[in-house]
Amino acid sequence: VFPLIVSGPHAPWLNLLLFILSQFILALCLFTYLQPSRNQGPEPRAGNPSALATQPGNSPTAPQAGSELIILLWTWPFGHPAALQKCSELFGIRDCHITANRSWYHKANAVIVHHRDVCSGPKKLPQGPRPPSQHWIWFNLESPSHSPNLGFMDNLFNLTMSYRRDSDIFTPYGWLEVLSQPQNFSIPTKSKLVAWVISNWNPASRRVQYYEELKKYLHVDIYGSHHMPLPRDKHFSTLSQYKFYLAFENSLHEDYITEKLWNNALGSGAVPVVCGPSRENYERFLPPDAFIHINDFPNAQGLAQYLQELDKDPARYQRYFQWRTWLKPSERSSWAIHFCKACRALQMTETYQTRTSLAKWFR
Ligand SMILES: *[C@@H]1O[C@H](CO)[C@@H](O)[C@H](O)[C@H]1NC(C)=O
Ligand SMILES: *[C@@H]1O[C@H](CO)[C@@H](O)[C@H](O)[C@H]1NC(C)=O
Ligand SMILES: *[C@@H]1O[C@H](CO)[C@@H](O)[C@H](O)[C@H]1NC(C)=O
Repeated sequence: VFPLIVSGPHAPWLNLLLFILSQFILALCLFTYLQPSRNQGPEPRAGNPSALATQPGNSPTAPQAGSELIILLWTWPFGHPAALQKCSELFGIRDCHITANRSWYHKANAVIVHHRDVCSGPKKLPQGPRPPSQHWIWFNLESPSHSPNLGFMDNLFNLTMSYRRDSDIFTPYGWLEVLSQPQNFSIPTKSKLVAWVISNWNPASRRVQYYEELKKYLHVDIYGSHHMPLPRDKHFSTLSQYKFYLAFENSLHEDYITEKLWNNALGSGAVPVVCGPSRENYERFLPPDAFIHINDFPNAQGLAQYLQELDKDPARYQRYFQWRTWLKPSERSSWAIHFCKACRALQMTETYQTRTSLAKWFR
């Protein structure tokens, strides 16, 4: 379930209208779908996390002490303890007890297993007998190209949790929120043309090869290791000076659209030039006129020409911000939000689309 966006040569305003409409329809569908499972506690609310924001005093049947679902994080993601937040504050739902303390294993209703931290071998997985009603959740935000050893994960997990829209628990890198009031978005002052932040420079990769072609026609400022430094605290102020940002994904997979788009480009008010899945796939996440896709052009030269035309035509450039009258990109996503999505999913439903073979699905 996710909005279908009509693409093609419509007026930008029509596209925007359709997008907003589809967001509402989505919210409505989800809400209707969730009704039957509303048995106790505050109602699950559909839509994006902003619609689920803190709702103090919205808990008619306060949960009994000790009735919280227990979610064990088998490891902290990448081994780094993350800041947790109360799910009641994030989503207005009953809290879950979320812990990385393995002595909770036998009591845990669910165990979240982060792929990267266990993929070196089956011994990294929980070993003891599994309590009969316990759910194992496979969690991964990396793309299939960077998710080794899926083979031994088959027939172990009850739920999937990833950036893919068809996961049981959908944890994208970002999303749009519908504003309650229209806003006049002010475009950050622009003094430069194109920026790109890249840390893994692989000359054989599609994105680097595309850049090598693009740079023949257009100058790109490159930040990251082996390039210009970009301190964390200068991230936004630096990137927002650019009209365009190259949001080039490290590998091409359905729905694999990362913080490169959400934070680096949209978060700093630069127009994303994307290289990743198809334009149709991006349009499941964004209005068609919120980004430029490299596939819109026959080659890098065509893209370079287009960016130069926009550079000289402020009115046309500004059209890439019209959607912001009604929509805004989410704040940076967090582990806490992802874990609370798992908490919400476990509270809402008992049935999941079990994937017997992760390797066949996740590719
Ligand atoms: C883990 O949980 C157990 C049982 O609640 C507790 O006794 C123990 O001190 C905890 N360990 C840590 C490191 O918090
Ligand atoms: C979860 O999946 C495992 C492996 O397929 C299965 O044995 C177990 O019964 C499932 N648990 C639940 C609660 O559905
Ligand atoms: C946006 O700006 C226009 C023109 O400056 C103004 O007429 C309008 O009232 C503003 N709208 C909002 C929502 O601030």
